[in-house]
Amino acid sequence: MHDADSNETKKLATLLELSQALSGTLNLKHSLHRVLEILELRHGMFRSTVTLLDGDSDLYIEASNGISAEGQRAHYRLGEGITGRVVESGKPIVVPQVSREPMFLNRAAQRKGLKEELTYICVPIVVGRKTVGAMGVDLHFKRDRDYDRSVKFLRVIACMIGQAVRVERLVEAETQRLVAENIHLREELRERYDFSNMVGGSGSMKQVYEQIAQVAGTNTSVLIRGESGTGKELIAHAIHYNSPRAKKPFVKVSCAALPDTLIESELFGYEKGAFTGAQSRKLGRFELAEGGTLFLDEIGDLNLTTQVKLLRVIQEREFERLGSTETIKIKVRMITATNKDLEKAITEGTFREDLYYRLNVFTIFVPPLRERKPDVMALADYFLEKYTKEHGKSIKRISTPAIDMLMSYHWPGNVRELENAMERAVLICDGNVIHAHHLPPTLQTAEASGTVVKVSLNEAIASYEKDLIQDALKTTRGNCSRAARLLSATERVLNYKVKKYAIDCGRFPK
Ligand SMILES: Nc1ncnc2c1ncn2[C@@H]1O[C@H](COP(=O)(O)OP(=O)(O)OP(=O)(O)O)[C@@H](O)[C@H]1O
Ligand SMILES: [Mg+2]
Repeated sequence: MHDADSNETKKLATLLELSQALSGTLNLKHSLHRVLEILELRHGMFRSTVTLLDGDSDLYIEASNGISAEGQRAHYRLGEGITGRVVESGKPIVVPQVSREPMFLNRAAQRKGLKEELTYICVPIVVGRKTVGAMGVDLHFKRDRDYDRSVKFLRVIACMIGQAVRVERLVEAETQRLVAENIHLREELRERYDFSNMVGGSGSMKQVYEQIAQVAGTNTSVLIRGESGTGKELIAHAIHYNSPRAKKPFVKVSCAALPDTLIESELFGYEKGAFTGAQSRKLGRFELAEGGTLFLDEIGDLNLTTQVKLLRVIQEREFERLGSTETIKIKVRMITATNKDLEKAITEGTFREDLYYRLNVFTIFVPPLRERKPDVMALADYFLEKYTKEHGKSIKRISTPAIDMLMSYHWPGNVRELENAMERAVLICDGNVIHAHHLPPTLQTAEASGTVVKVSLNEAIASYEKDLIQDALKTTRGNCSRAARLLSATERVLNYKVKKYAIDCGRFPK
């Protein structure tokens, strides 16, 4: 074979090897090292550096071969020395005989005092249209070397390096974006579930807040009990986000929502092929919650077989995935909640007593809403504001009769029912005051002494009329003639209605 041909073949083989080195890993430093090693091995480029721009004008050595540890820490500025000039101009520089070049800074490689003559070639690394760095190599000086060819060859390599740098920067930017987004989302969650966001300052709720504060900092298992809709899940969140585990996951499993056959694979996960349909490994919620909190909601609905397995996890802090013999250790804090009477379930044999004692280390009882009347208005106002904003309305307040209705109702569905009632009221309200007739029918009948099931048309109209008049009087601070004008009625009619509905004008402060 002709000498020049064999040289070209060798270069092509090198390019193939280099492209594999550059695409093999996402670790740029690593691949660049490999690239420079290959260049030494195949082409005698015994000393080399890849320098990249850091910011606008600083250059640092990203990878090198044949350079001392101290030399690797060398820094340049744009335009400084040969490397700096290549990056600044985007044009290659060839120094056929290093001994005759005064521009050499010799910062990375100490070439002074060397007996042997060297050739130095430096080519720019370009990404898009921007020069982002340079690759420089030392070669043994050869009188008949074709510098043009060497530069072309090195430029091809620099181009490949440029692509690798671009990919790495894209990945890095994307990762940074995701990390920032994740931090932001966690922050948002924490704010949402910070227990200062829990509304209601009644005595019994204050006690609940104290208990949350007491237990949040510990690893104790917590059992939250209370009727449906009292805020058990909210409390579980508050404990997690006020604990040292706040930055780790909060994972919820609703034991009632899953059929018995699925709950175990959900909790413990499974290996591929553990059962028909298990096409790949699935991590269980215990594993997903590692380091954080696992919230088992409606624990009273858990079947007996799973109760046994759960007991073991709590006692030994380990478990196996379904279809696996490998034991997995976990550090997970347990919070459970139920609205069931667990003591009764124990006597009936549907809940294990030993599990009960394990879960019941610290219990928080959430009182039903009917036992904390002062919270009703605070919560109603809170939901009014929340849904007014959410639905883009401009509702300012709740009318007095509507307040009376909210206060006299017994709220069997607790806070959730109140929240629903307020959202519904906001949706159907077209003015800026919530009136009694905006509230759900269940509350209307309750106000009508709790015995009348149906409301007649006359009664409904009367209640609406009374409502409007009270409202107008409130606006005018009990001034009847102004209230009459507001309602486009005469003062005589208004006075008549005030008497008819026994409205106490003194109730509206002057
Ligand atoms: N003190 C509170 N302040 C603000 N919102 C509350 C409060 N208590 C409950 N809520 C709201 O009421 C709704 C019901 O609360 P949550 O889901 O926590 O109840 P729960 O006790 O878990 O009910 P269930 O037993 O039915 O699951 C939620 O939307 C919650 O945000
Ligand atoms: Mg719940």
